[in-house]
Amino acid sequence: MITSKSMQVTEHKPVIVVKLGGSILPELSAHFYKSMKDLQHHYHVILVHGGGPDITATLKDLGIQCTFINGQRKTTKDVFDIAEQMLKGKVNSTLVHQLNLEEIRAIGLSGYDAHLLKASFIDKETLGFVGKIEEVNLTLLHNLLSLNYLPVIAPLATTGEGERVNVNADLVAASVAKAMKAEKLVFVTDVPGILKDGELVSRVTIEVIQRYIEVGVIHGGMIPKVQAAISVLNKHINEVMIVGCRDSIIQDGEMIGTRITEGKEVQAI
Ligand SMILES: Nc1ncnc2c1ncn2[C@@H]1O[C@H](COP(=O)(O)OP(=O)(O)OP(=O)(O)O)[C@@H](O)[C@H]1O
Ligand SMILES: [Mg+2]
Repeated sequence: MITSKSMQVTEHKPVIVVKLGGSILPELSAHFYKSMKDLQHHYHVILVHGGGPDITATLKDLGIQCTFINGQRKTTKDVFDIAEQMLKGKVNSTLVHQLNLEEIRAIGLSGYDAHLLKASFIDKETLGFVGKIEEVNLTLLHNLLSLNYLPVIAPLATTGEGERVNVNADLVAASVAKAMKAEKLVFVTDVPGILKDGELVSRVTIEVIQRYIEVGVIHGGMIPKVQAAISVLNKHINEVMIVGCRDSIIQDGEMIGTRITEGKEVQAI
């Protein structure tokens, strides 16, 4: 039997963008889904996901070489085809399916849908089919949120010339947060936050982050994450969180992880 559910237009709520790292997706627990439901009481939630581990594993199986430059995957045409298949065909659909089983009204999108994400090449020579976001289709997102859907975005975009590109998911999350004037941006990843000498750094400023990158404390995939965080500070958002996903992302009403602020307070490294 075919049944239908009516669409309900909801009241205005602030927006929170939550970026989920590819490596945590197979481990999402009941606590995670509960956190999403809790967030939905106060916010319109938009999810952006990565897919690094699935892309890397498939490239390895197929014997396709792949390198990283400052945490960004160099994306040849062959690498792009696999990234697209994994992000849209596997990761996005699995996550959306799971969220819907948990009674969260998730709707899967990539940047191709209704021109959600327009991008330009960063440096085609060096990085290949890797883009940076130029424009976000706000109307689409506002409409979905007002109908109480939770958009789940795969980090693929189209250039002005109609070419398809892969964009680092952290940078997509930041662009969506900026464009939607989000109140909060949270990165959920496979580490509890920024680590230094194995210890969680609970608070950092932009200045400290820059030093951490210079001395190599922050490297690899953490580089685009902190760059994405820095790019949104002072634009309606005064702090960005990087959190782990082990249990709930909210504990006693607080997010536990690294809090990134613009502030200039002195911190020893
Ligand atoms: N100082 C640091 N503290 C914590 N993690 C760091 C640090 N420097 C580098 N990293 C690395 O950054 C990784 C997180 O970034 P990564 O890109 O791998 O994951 P993600 O962004 O959550 O997932 P995806 O890229 O699939 O979206 C950590 O697993 C760790 O290896
Ligand atoms: Mg990453």
